[in-house]
Amino acid sequence: MIHLPRRPRRNRRTAAIRELTQETTLSVSDLIFPLFVLEGTGIKSEIKSMPGIFRFSLDTLLEELHEVTDLGIKSICLFPNYPESKKDKIATESYQQNTLYLNALRAIKDRFPDLTLMTDVAMDPYSSDGHDGYVENGEIVNDISLEILGKMAVAQAKAGADILGPSDMMDGRVGYIRQLLDSEGYSNVSIMSYSAKYASAFYGPFRDALNSAPRFGDKKTYQMNPANVREALLEAQLDFDEGADFLMVKPALPYLDIIKLLNDNFNIPIAAYNVSGEYAMIKAASQNGWIDGERAMLEALMSIRRAGAKAILTYFAKEVAQIQNG
Ligand code: PBG
Repeated sequence: MIHLPRRPRRNRRTAAIRELTQETTLSVSDLIFPLFVLEGTGIKSEIKSMPGIFRFSLDTLLEELHEVTDLGIKSICLFPNYPESKKDKIATESYQQNTLYLNALRAIKDRFPDLTLMTDVAMDPYSSDGHDGYVENGEIVNDISLEILGKMAVAQAKAGADILGPSDMMDGRVGYIRQLLDSEGYSNVSIMSYSAKYASAFYGPFRDALNSAPRFGDKKTYQMNPANVREALLEAQLDFDEGADFLMVKPALPYLDIIKLLNDNFNIPIAAYNVSGEYAMIKAASQNGWIDGERAMLEALMSIRRAGAKAILTYFAKEVAQIQNG
């Protein structure tokens, strides 16, 4: 045998040694499970482009949460699906005391006080224009949007949210929301900012789920250009300075370099959103027998952790928990 001082394969020889030398781990505690709520009772309707993911009415959602928490999932993010009749130009429904979304938040906090409850702060589920901000003459107007997002944020905090997730990409919204929360007595409510949110094709299945696609144009005047890296640093710096507790990158897999960049540059936890289209791709290929879905899922999530994300929002959370529970 020839003498080789370095044989990296020695560290891969047995399963135990491979585990001993494993640099990155993936645990259920790293995951946030996104869920969709809609009006009505007894409803559990599967989203066609997201096999295994459902829209729940509040009653079935609470049942689902028993299963979710029994699996050891500790954090969820809730999104609402509203009928057209509840939408208007200024997202009025988003801060009505008795609206579906706020009722759901209160009911969840009441039944599951230990579950970390994350929300979405953006106008699109309530907007007749299907945009994340206020639209005037075809333009998404930044500063008017902030006022609406602020009301929405305070209402969500009041309803029991632990972490607010501004996903709208308006300028200055993190600082605006932070200031309002503090002045209203919610200094303990966290902000996970969608800091580098790209104008992506991978949100398609989510917009189907919520029927929230833009009614005209696209989201390119507020979401980021997929070609840009330095702009992500700027967005992250602003959100950091404005008081964000977490910086999020979205989508995850096509933007692993951005996750690493933010993790290298900011000393607060980085999160990544493994979005609907990323989920759909793995599910579709797996259903066709083209890839091993379970292995592909674990590999994809591990790569997001390896890039530097501490927390991952993923529709795969239950499946990971099921595997880890043995
Ligand atoms: C919108 C919002 C989107 C997602 C989360 N919040 C879609 C969009 O920006 O159009 C996407 C999540 C996913 O695709 O899983 N405020």
